[in-house]
Amino acid sequence: MVQYDPLSLFDEEINRRDVPALKTHPMVVGLNGENLFAAGVADMDFMAPPPVLEAMQKRLDHGVFGYEAMPAGLIAALMRWLQNQHDWEVPKDHILTSPNILTALAMAASLFTEVGDAVIVQPPVFFDFFDVLNENHREIVQNPLIFDQGHYRMDFEDLENKASHPKTKMIYLCNPHNPVGRVWREQELRTLGDICSRHGVLVVSDEMHGDLVFTDFKYKSFAALGPEYAANCITCISPAKTFNIASCCSAFTLIADEDKRKAFQVENSRLSVNKNNPFANVAMKAAYSSGAPWLEAVISYLESNVEMVRDALGNIPGIELVEPEGTFLLWIDFSGLELGLDELYAFLRKQAKWSVTRGHSFGKEGKGFARVNIACTRAKLETALSSLELAVGRLHS
Ligand SMILES: Cc1ncc(COP(=O)(O)O)c(C=O)c1O
Repeated sequence: MVQYDPLSLFDEEINRRDVPALKTHPMVVGLNGENLFAAGVADMDFMAPPPVLEAMQKRLDHGVFGYEAMPAGLIAALMRWLQNQHDWEVPKDHILTSPNILTALAMAASLFTEVGDAVIVQPPVFFDFFDVLNENHREIVQNPLIFDQGHYRMDFEDLENKASHPKTKMIYLCNPHNPVGRVWREQELRTLGDICSRHGVLVVSDEMHGDLVFTDFKYKSFAALGPEYAANCITCISPAKTFNIASCCSAFTLIADEDKRKAFQVENSRLSVNKNNPFANVAMKAAYSSGAPWLEAVISYLESNVEMVRDALGNIPGIELVEPEGTFLLWIDFSGLELGLDELYAFLRKQAKWSVTRGHSFGKEGKGFARVNIACTRAKLETALSSLELAVGRLHS
């Protein structure tokens, strides 16, 4: 198997502004934001895996881009990936495609709940969950995570309470959890699953970050807990984050229950979202077939970036890292700086020169926190950390 040296792959600085990348776009970093540490949007600054680039180049060289079917072997490559990486055997006929994860989340809500029904979310959580549910006129019921001594866990008592309400029909689970970085343990998932099935609550499990898990942790898909759990679940996965191909891939929706799968299929064709572009097809097939060594290298690079942040924050009073178990998104507690909300983000932008995602966009529980994307070169992260340390020094002097 190919082996990569993470440093030679990921130390190269690539100017994201050469294309209209969202991460560095004025829409995200604001006007005059070009000198900020762009740590908001959740993608990586790294080139896609070499086999993906080669496959896309080959497809480009072919030169004809008329209608085409899904390439033979793509679904088989995905199935092998799930089996080899996660010991998870998914039957071929459970796998559907979706244009992206948010479409699948919206479709699940619109197909399996009614307007006015309640859907549970577990804040602080990926802000688009709120938008999808609001736009689909579903009531959002919050089951906040418990933050205890620097660690997040689920509040099962509150979950039981909220799931038992007759209006509650669904939960959006985020596994691993964006932004707090938890990789849910098997027992936690079982407890959640048992509560949901007791009360007829369908689990929609967004597992987009499932491949990006650190060495000491193991991602377990909710549906992999067993057939009775899979039967009450819609699983959403995608190679977008794993291989940094968010703008040129689609997603997969895994549905064990036959009726629900048929309903999804019908909706896919009603909305004509069952087509795909040829670059996405070859990128995904190459990534799932030959991307494992690159993924191993990127995880090792991310782990050393986490270490760098941990070391630096150890010397900066008032700022605490919530230890991540996976993802390239760090959840950092700035409340010890004792700044008001507006003051905090103005301080981060103007003094530290950081552009982050504000904690309270993930729910009110995120006040005083920020989500910080560390999938960037070590050099960039080092500069950002020094700038933060100097800014905090000035604040205290
Ligand atoms: C947990 C989670 N789900 C979904 C998405 C968005 O997925 P997509 O671009 O496939 O709609 C993101 C992107 O940051 C995410 O973190």
